[in-house]
Amino acid sequence: MEEKIRVLLKEEEVDQKIAELGKKISEDYAGEAVHLICVLKGGVFFTCELAKRITVPVSLDFMSVSSYGADTKSSGVVKIVKDLDEPLEGKNVLIVEDIIDSGRTLSYLIQILKKRNPKSIALCTLLDKPERRVTDVKVDYVGFNIPDEFVVGYGLDYAQKYRNLPFIGVVEV
Ligand code: IMP
Ligand code: MG
Repeated sequence: MEEKIRVLLKEEEVDQKIAELGKKISEDYAGEAVHLICVLKGGVFFTCELAKRITVPVSLDFMSVSSYGADTKSSGVVKIVKDLDEPLEGKNVLIVEDIIDSGRTLSYLIQILKKRNPKSIALCTLLDKPERRVTDVKVDYVGFNIPDEFVVGYGLDYAQKYRNLPFIGVVEV
């Protein structure tokens, strides 16, 4: 079945916001290097576009996590499906996410990555749904705060579809 997709954020708006975020990050990390951690799969489009807009030295690594079954979800425990290739010791780590919803995934991820002794750790998300937060998580860079609607595009999927849309849309069922 084809769902209807309503445009929430146009391609130009998203691109412009990513350019702004890249500029801000470049200023904040001036004189330092930044190690971007892309949270797969949703974060991949955002990570690539953001990395292109950062002017300080950038290195990249990738990680894939999944939530345990619904019954254990409230514990906030996530499973590492694919771990990073490189150590974080002494690096300025910037986690790059597509969206923060309940905040469970990120608060758990930050906890595990902090144990690997990075020099610093920060979080950047393209989208945030603050209304949905159940676990407190400090977000350093936010592209857009959006209402509580299910969105797709720019890496975000609905049943693995629509990740390739160049804009952010709302699925209307
Ligand atoms: P949470 O913050 O731990 O609840 O989970 C965030 C994850 O849920 C994101 O990384 C997405 O993979 C997924 N997610 C949350 N809201 C949406 C949405 O509106 N569209 C697509 N995926 C979403
Ligand atoms: Mg995600």
